[in-house]
Parts: sequence; structure tokens; C-alpha cells
Amino acid sequence: MASSSTFLFLLLFTISSTTATMQSIPTYFPRSTYQSSLQKQAKDLVSEPKIPYETYYFPQLLDHFTFRPQSSKIFYQKYLINSHYWHHGGPIFVYTGNEGNIEWFAANTGFMLDIAPKFQALLVFIEHRFYGESMPFGKDSYNSAKTLGYLNSRQALADFAVLIRSLKKNHSSEESPVVVFGGSYGGMLAAWFRLKYPHIAIGALASSAPILQFDDIIPWSSFYDAVSKDYKDASVNCYEVIKGSWQELEALSAQKEGLAELSRTFRTCKNLQSMYSVRNWLWTAFVYTAMVNYPTKANFMMPLPAYPVQAMCKIIDGFSPGATKLSKVFAAASLYYNYSQTQKCFELENGTDVHGLHGWDWQACTEMVMPMTCSNESMFSPSSFNYKEFADNCKEKYGVMPRPHWITTEYGGSRIELVLKRSGSNIIFSNGMQDPWSRGSVLKNISATIIALVTEKGAHHVDFRSATKEDPEWLIQQRRKEVEIIQNWIDEYYMDIEQER
Ligand SMILES: *[C@@H]1O[C@H](CO)[C@@H](O)[C@H](O)[C@H]1NC(C)=O
Ligand SMILES: *[C@@H]1O[C@H](CO)[C@@H](O)[C@H](O)[C@H]1NC(C)=O
Ligand SMILES: *[C@@H]1O[C@H](CO)[C@@H](O)[C@H](O)[C@H]1NC(C)=O
Ligand SMILES: *[C@@H]1O[C@H](CO)[C@@H](O)[C@H](O)[C@H]1NC(C)=O
Ligand SMILES: *[C@@H]1O[C@H](CO)[C@@H](O)[C@H](O)[C@H]1NC(C)=O
Repeated sequence: MASSSTFLFLLLFTISSTTATMQSIPTYFPRSTYQSSLQKQAKDLVSEPKIPYETYYFPQLLDHFTFRPQSSKIFYQKYLINSHYWHHGGPIFVYTGNEGNIEWFAANTGFMLDIAPKFQALLVFIEHRFYGESMPFGKDSYNSAKTLGYLNSRQALADFAVLIRSLKKNHSSEESPVVVFGGSYGGMLAAWFRLKYPHIAIGALASSAPILQFDDIIPWSSFYDAVSKDYKDASVNCYEVIKGSWQELEALSAQKEGLAELSRTFRTCKNLQSMYSVRNWLWTAFVYTAMVNYPTKANFMMPLPAYPVQAMCKIIDGFSPGATKLSKVFAAASLYYNYSQTQKCFELENGTDVHGLHGWDWQACTEMVMPMTCSNESMFSPSSFNYKEFADNCKEKYGVMPRPHWITTEYGGSRIELVLKRSGSNIIFSNGMQDPWSRGSVLKNISATIIALVTEKGAHHVDFRSATKEDPEWLIQQRRKEVEIIQNWIDEYYMDIEQER
């Protein structure tokens, strides 16, 4: 059992660690550079979440799209079920798993459990192939492109379709309406699933799903501009301190004893070998914190207080004017890495994961190419996206070249309003503007049935979290709207069925 959960999920990424120069823009992959230390810390803090699901394994076809002898190889795909609230024949809510072990998504999608009683719904969480325990080639799954080649979104969507059909058959509930749910990459999959398999899912709730983060559909700088806006909105001084800190970092590391001093300032467990690890460490803290700028305290990637961006800026603003920018940003980043107050020192360098053989890294090197840059206005150092460098790096790691236009060819994206208003229906795109990924999602209503629910103060799929007593009114309203819309889809479906009889 792969208990080494991919603790970081969400399209988070790593600053391309093999790029020695670090001049070019970080390409964000779902596993942070600090994954191992984060994982360790997270494990120390939270025991494995107790979730009310039963675990099953489904014999899944390795390759849905060719008919060669090896295509019919079977692997075991994990899925979770809760049938406690299910009224036989009632709706089936399926979470389309993303890049990590499925328990983790189940634990962070309490919303489905919250609404299951009202709908008397069966809950199903399906693990994405090549993550968690659903490894088609066991320990060898990540060995090379020969095995990893079966890791792509199209195969994953087909897995969901095949599994759902089998499940309905086994439960003698072929008429049950299926609604798919997903957050982040899982949200992209939920939306695409509705478009590709309308005969299987009557609707999709896609939370924080950046389906437009490809090609040149949105400005490449929008992700980091959005991160910067979060901090600037919290405090202009905070934004300026962070923005100015990179130069201070470079100046200090150019000095003779610079790295030693940095090691002291950043309380590193081991002496620093390079300033880039400091930079990555800070970037990671600022980016993740913007993503999870939730209105209540939460433990998604790290335990954090409510509105952690504001909390970080308060720390920065609270310093006396004479303090260096680096000591200020260190204190701010410590909120992210040490809110639990358990860290004796920080392992800044241990994240440089050069194995690169993790699932999302492969996906990012093949179809999930999301170009990002930092504009002059962002609080990060300006940088461009060097496609050639990126592609060469992928080629070196995996022996394959990325296909940067494949996603938009396969699922569309350009001029999405024009296309979907005629061809699609029953999708909710929910987003919070605190989340930098929101800029790559659908933020406008496309039609009466393709709905954008946008909150100013929301963060990365905050609507999917379990309801708490502290939830603000806008969040309660957002979830209420989602429930209402889903209820309409289901009512309509049953009406159609009735009429057919
Ligand atoms: C449905 O039942 C068949 C036969 O027992 C089994 O092989 C299959 O795994 C089941 N499907 C699911 C989704 O569990
Ligand atoms: C983490 O927080 C605790 C409590 O405030 C503090 O004693 C410790 O020094 C901090 N760790 C680091 C590495 O700064
Ligand atoms: C990173 O951590 C692992 C185990 O946690 C350790 O074996 C390794 O030496 C560390 N690497 C660095 C560069 O500190
Ligand atoms: C950013 O600033 C640099 C130097 O001032 C300038 O050359 C460049 O054109 C600017 N880029 C943008 C996108 O404004
Ligand atoms: C889209 O329409 C719904 C009502 O159906 C409304 O609640 C929502 O605010 C609209 N979204 C946007 C972004 O205007």
C-alpha cells in the first residue's frame, strides 16, 4: 500500500530544479520542491484522516484506445464508496480523482459528504491511474516513458467511464443520475468528463479547474499576478517588501560569507549550497499560501490560520523599519512552514527533487503544459517562459517531447464561450479570486446551464471543504447555489425519464 501519500496536490509545482540557471520561469508542477519535508511535517501533525468510506479495487483496462494484445492488460484501480445515505436508485456523486492518493481528496472534499443526506446520494471517489495505489505497473510504473505513456487525461477519463458503468450495473441502478465533482486538476477532469461522456454524467461541478491555463488562452503572467494581488490587497508595504527581497537575497549571496549568513537567517538544518533553494522555499510559501487563503483555519497542505496571506502581511508590517527585507520574508514564510511551532530548523535544500519521476511531472512534460511568466508588476522576480529549455528538459528526463497544443485540441479552450454555449450544458465552474488558478478557469456565465460561481474571497476549491461553524455568509451562499443547481439537473433528469415511460 502506497502510504506515501502525494501530499501536495493541486497543481502545485516545482521550480524546475534541474535548470541550473533558474533564469527562466518556474514551471509549476503539483509536487512542491519541499514535498518530503512537508509530507513528514504533515504526517506528524495529522494522523491519517478518518474518512467514512469503504475501499474497493476495480480490474481496469490499461489501454482503452488501441486493440493490441498488451492493451488488455489489467490493473487494479482503487475507489472509495459511501452508501450510508443512498436511497437505492438515487443519484450517484462521483469524485474524479486527481494527482494523488484518493483518500486525501476524499478527506478534503467534505462537501460531498455534507450534501449526501439531502440527495440520498451514493458517494464514489475514484483514484486516478498512476497515483496512490492505482499503479498499473506496480513499483515500476514510473520507470520510463514505456510505462508512463499510459498516464494521460484521456485514459483517466475513460477509466472513470468504464468504472461508473460497471458500478451502476453491479448496483442495479443503471438509471441513477451521475454527477461528477472535481477540484483543481480533478475539476478539469470533471468538466471534460461531462463534455466527453454526457451519456454517463448529467452534470459536473468543477471547482478551481484551470481548463484555460493552456496555450495562449490567458496571459501567461496571470497566475503570478494573481498571487501578487493577494499580497498587495492585504498590504502594499507587504507586497513591496516581498518584491524587494529578491534583490537583497542576490546581493547577500554574492558576498563572501553570504551563504553562511543566509543559513543563519533562514535557520537551515544544513549549510546552504545555493541561494536558489532560499528563493524556491520562499516562492513556495507565498504561492501555496495564496492558494489556500481560506476564510477559516484549515490544514490542507499545511496547518494555517484563517486568511493566512493577511496573517503573513501582518508579520511583515509589524517589523521595525530598520529590519532587513530578508528577515521579514523569513518570518512571513515561517508562518507557512512552522505554524505548528514544531520545526527546530528548516530543510530548505531537501526539496530539490531531481528524480522527476513523479506522476505530475510526467503529465506536465507531456500534455499539461501550462506556460507561466512573472511580469514586472508581480512581486516575484520577472521571468519569461522558455519553451525550448522546458522541452529539452522533458526530453532529457523522459525521452519524449511535450505536446503543448494537445489539450486545446482534445478538449478545446479557445473561445470557450462561443463553443460551449452551443455544445455543452450542466457544468458549474466555481472559483475564488484569492486562488491564482482562478485566472485560468471560467469566470463568466456561458449559458443558462454553464454557470460560473465566483467569490472574491474564496480560495482553492474552498467550496469543497466541509462546512464549519465559522464559514462566512458568501461561502454558505456559494454552496447553497451549487446544491440548488445540482438539484435542478437531477429533477430535470427524472422528469425526462418519466416522460419517456
Ligand atoms: C462489478 O462486478 C464484477 C463481477 O463481480 C466485478 O468484476 C467488478 O469489479 C465490479 N465493478 C465494480 C465497479 O466494482
Ligand atoms: C518554530 O516555532 C517555535 C515556536 O515559536 C520556535 O521555538 C522555533 O524556533 C521555530 N522554528 C524555526 C526553525 O524557526
Ligand atoms: C533529504 O532528506 C533525506 C531523508 O529525509 C535525506 O536522506 C537526504 O540526505 C536529504 N538531502 C539533503 C540534500 O539534505
Ligand atoms: C520589464 O522591465 C524591463 C526593464 O525595465 C523592460 O526591459 C521590459 O520590457 C519590461 N517588461 C514588461 C513586460 O513590461
Ligand atoms: C451566473 O449565474 C448565476 C445564476 O444562475 C449567478 O448566481 C452567478 O452570479 C452568475 N455568475 C457570474 C460570474 O455572473
